[in-house]
Amino acid sequence: MKLDCGLCVIRDWQPSDEEALIAVANNRNVWRNMHHRFPYPYAKSDAKYWFSLLAQMQEPTHWAIEVDGVAVGGVGIDLGEGIFAKSAQFGYWLGEPYWGRGIMTDAVRAAAEYALIHFGLVRLEAPVFAWNPASMRVLEKSGFVREGILRRSVLKDGELIDQVLYALVR
Ligand SMILES: CC(C)(COP(=O)(O)OP(=O)(O)OC[C@H]1O[C@@H](n2cnc3c(N)ncnc32)[C@H](O)[C@@H]1OP(=O)(O)O)[C@@H](O)C(=O)NCCC(=O)NCCS
Repeated sequence: MKLDCGLCVIRDWQPSDEEALIAVANNRNVWRNMHHRFPYPYAKSDAKYWFSLLAQMQEPTHWAIEVDGVAVGGVGIDLGEGIFAKSAQFGYWLGEPYWGRGIMTDAVRAAAEYALIHFGLVRLEAPVFAWNPASMRVLEKSGFVREGILRRSVLKDGELIDQVLYALVR
């Protein structure tokens, strides 16, 4: 898939993105805001594992965010199963040198619309760590609605923290 978002392009990850991926993913300030599946340090083996996971999927649900022809971040969904079949968890990250330019807002808007329509979903959920107001702002600018607080739901970087749950529903 390929989506032109204005400030960036969203497209499938390719094994040739390995070096670019490691350059931006191996960053503590990115890791600190991510799910435990996102490692730090981010090594060559992690990039290879990521590409092998994507290759096993019937259709990839995680994509690269490309700026000036280089992969500099990621966005994707984890599809729900069973009674959650119409929902997905929505996640994203961007390399630190690219923060503060509006790139992720463009990427989230485009990826969320694509995911809802392409996968026939009605709900995208995005839980955000309470210490991450920039991410909440991105979601608000993209039409996600703040639904509540998941109190002390996450242990990250040695701290027990709240998550703020955002969702986009159609
Ligand atoms: C959070 C993240 C995705 C933001 O990406 P970005 O491209 O910098 O976001 P944008 O530039 O589109 O928008 C950021 C918004 O947050 C605002 N912002 C930045 N820091 C802020 C802060 N400390 N408090 C409040 N708002 C803040 C910006 O002003 C901007 O809003 P505005 O357009 O109204 O001025 C990026 O920093 C990132 O990848 N962080 C690490 C991983 C991560 O947090 N992933 C999301 C997990 S839920």
